[in-house]
Amino acid sequence: VEIDLSDPDLFAGNGYRPVFSWLRTHDPVHRHQEAGGPGYWVLTRYRDIVAVYADHETFSSRYGMRLGSDPAAVAAVADRMLIVTDPPGHTELRRIVAAEFGPARIAELRPLVTQVVDEVLDELVDRAADAGPVDIVDVVKEIPNRVVCALMGLPRSDWDWIGALTTGAFESEDEAERSAAHAEIFLYFSDLVNRRRKAPGADVVSRIATAVRQSGGLIPEEVVVLNCNGVLAGANETTRHAASGAVLALARHPEQWRLLTDRTPDIVPSAVEEVLRWTTPGVHAMRTAVRNTAIAGVDIREGDRVSLWNASANCDPAEFADAERFLLDRTPNRHLTFGWGRHVCLGARVARLELSDYLTGLARRFEALELAGDPRYTSSNFTWGLQALPVTLRVRAGSMADHGS
Ligand code: HEM
Repeated sequence: VEIDLSDPDLFAGNGYRPVFSWLRTHDPVHRHQEAGGPGYWVLTRYRDIVAVYADHETFSSRYGMRLGSDPAAVAAVADRMLIVTDPPGHTELRRIVAAEFGPARIAELRPLVTQVVDEVLDELVDRAADAGPVDIVDVVKEIPNRVVCALMGLPRSDWDWIGALTTGAFESEDEAERSAAHAEIFLYFSDLVNRRRKAPGADVVSRIATAVRQSGGLIPEEVVVLNCNGVLAGANETTRHAASGAVLALARHPEQWRLLTDRTPDIVPSAVEEVLRWTTPGVHAMRTAVRNTAIAGVDIREGDRVSLWNASANCDPAEFADAERFLLDRTPNRHLTFGWGRHVCLGARVARLELSDYLTGLARRFEALELAGDPRYTSSNFTWGLQALPVTLRVRAGSMADHGS
């Protein structure tokens, strides 16, 4: 087995599962070679990955949380952007941002999410009813973008623009285009934070911008801006892949589609978790050892980078029975799709809410879904996802008239 987890073709061809399976069995703490670099560790077993996520004192996030990031760019935002900040800085910043995604806020958000998902699925009904295949990716990307924009209180006229800019900033193949998009997002939020500080509203940006730190004083403007950018990217670049990946999995497993349509809403909570496990949009995360240690008996030196392959942990037969099967009624399902430990995804509740309304809405509106062409995958080893997925959807009688209500 040739191991090259930096090979874009491995991911574009969606062929990585057998590689992980081999690694889990034969070389679970694998030393990966790297062109022009010292190499890094690859962890593929569920229990080893959880152990690293749980030990933030040995394994730091502040030197980057993914492979392939530019060390200078990480250093410029480390200790200011949640995802690349260690305690104690992480603890306070996370407390402030997490308040916006806790159970109380989520209860308030529920009607907004339901409205957005209904809107988008009604648009899908209209497009599907025109006959001919629909690119589901093009439609579902609207769900997380509209939710996060509404959450941040952005004017509706900016939503499409912000969505396209985020995709450009994170997915464009052109480095110059990516930097230009990042710079534009940064400017947009700088201006917004200033305005919200003068006239706060009930939105996430206003609340973070006006939150008072334990030590007194407000969070510096650029820290608010960086974390708004983090929330925007965290929301947009993941949930849509889970949503379109759900359609791919359901089309390929018609018996699971039948289970969903027959047993909605009861089955939806476990179906959401299985879609999250099956798709695992966050393929890997990374930590850097800040002292000498060992993982599963293998010595790790201070300064070594350790990559944590969530996509592999989520298929580890030591944790999941019938790990290679897509089973909507799977329980328990302790997947690592949202990571684990201190940095566990802040938006997990929002994503679950979106996916729950989405699966319910699909089952209620459509009788059948079929692939109408080959899926096109992203070629990234960081974000699993679909770039295009043509499907034919058969609308249920009545869904056109009452739009699925
Ligand atoms: C299916 C959807 C999602 C997936 C797969 C996902 C995945 C992840 C993962 C794996 C991490 C941990 C990274 C690490 O440990 O280094 C993370 C952190 C984070 N996510 Fe998500 N995410 C999703 C949705 C969202 C949404 C909807 C939001 C915001 C509305 C969001 C905001 C964040 C933020 C701010 C962090 C940083 C937390 C910290 O460092 O303390 N994510 N996400």
